[in-house]
Amino acid sequence: MSTLLANIGELVTNDAGDAAGPGAFASLSDAALVIDGAEVAWTGPAGRAPAADDRVDCGGRAVLPGFVDSHAHLVFAGERSAEFAARMAGTAYQAGGIATTVAATRAASDGQLRANLRALRAEMLAQGTTTFECKSGYGLTVADERRSVALAAEVTQEVTFLGAHVVPPEFRADPGGYLDLVCGPMLAACAPQARWVDVFCERGAFGADEARAVLTAGRAAGLIPRIHANQLEAGPGVQLAVELGAASADHCTYLTGADVDALAGGGTVATLLPGVEFSTRNPYPDARLLLAAGATVALASDCNPGSCFTSSMPLAVALAVREMRMTTQEAVWAATAGGACALRRGDVGHLRPGARADLVLLDAPSHVYLAYRPGVPLARAVWQDGELAAGRPPAA
Ligand code: NIG
Ligand code: FE
Repeated sequence: MSTLLANIGELVTNDAGDAAGPGAFASLSDAALVIDGAEVAWTGPAGRAPAADDRVDCGGRAVLPGFVDSHAHLVFAGERSAEFAARMAGTAYQAGGIATTVAATRAASDGQLRANLRALRAEMLAQGTTTFECKSGYGLTVADERRSVALAAEVTQEVTFLGAHVVPPEFRADPGGYLDLVCGPMLAACAPQARWVDVFCERGAFGADEARAVLTAGRAAGLIPRIHANQLEAGPGVQLAVELGAASADHCTYLTGADVDALAGGGTVATLLPGVEFSTRNPYPDARLLLAAGATVALASDCNPGSCFTSSMPLAVALAVREMRMTTQEAVWAATAGGACALRRGDVGHLRPGARADLVLLDAPSHVYLAYRPGVPLARAVWQDGELAAGRPPAA
């Protein structure tokens, strides 16, 4: 079964040719695209489009690769709106709030966690996110982390074991004992269902030596490292990420010159999460510094009930443009192809022939509208694996 998307005003392909390297946004105007099965079969000028079984007239609207959200914490119960309200009234964000969600998550049934997770997945899809990563990290016992990764694996192949989120209250007097648990029985229980291992490397969570131990153990169990780094202050996380060849260093809010140089010179993506700064009133990361240095930058939601309870990639794009001075092209690339780099995925984040047919039709003529019309639900229709998965395309 093939479908022709005809009359596309702007087709964002991110196909600038192999010589262009990471960061190269590319688009066609007055274009068309053919989906065949689960893949993109053809892209090119509207006038040269081949015939297909089915036809959608896009009416001059924009088509983009589905967003790739490479950082989300979706397995949890409860909410922390009171904490948010207190922050807006002047209280600083504290990592300790995580314990509130840990208690609610442990008390929840599998069914409650699954329903919450599925609702969030549907919310993401409706906004154009077709690939997302999902972390554990609100269970923090062997059984609760195991069920968290198992639930995450029901909805995505990008599952991250984050047993090293914080030291849970029952281990407060024995953080070393908790680290042994994470690196031993908890990792063994979670690794079979996960692809990634993550650690919150921050004062109040885990230090450099502990983070190194977690990521090294995770790697020995077949997982690939990624790190929560430099969120609340400058620290060792970014340098550790680059040293260990982590796929991504996430947050990057407080960077030294040496951190920027390390990211620019290494193979680790700098994943920026501007929804967190929006929701905590912390300063935004310096995206321009990273881009000028040549680092690969991704944008992700960090959807979680504490520091940032939004799943919206369009919001991340709008904040990146307005608050972090990324161009609209840089921001859209970072939210699609950048996320794919952070997840080491070659099949998503672009619309070259052979790509997975994950795409968003915007109710707008260009990608610029994602930042130009912030807060407006612009995702008109979303295809995932070649199937219409959300919204409704214009009638043929
Ligand atoms: O990425 N930084 C650590 N973890 C989450 C926050 C989790 C929470 O506050 O519940 C984050 O911001
Ligand atoms: Fe996070």
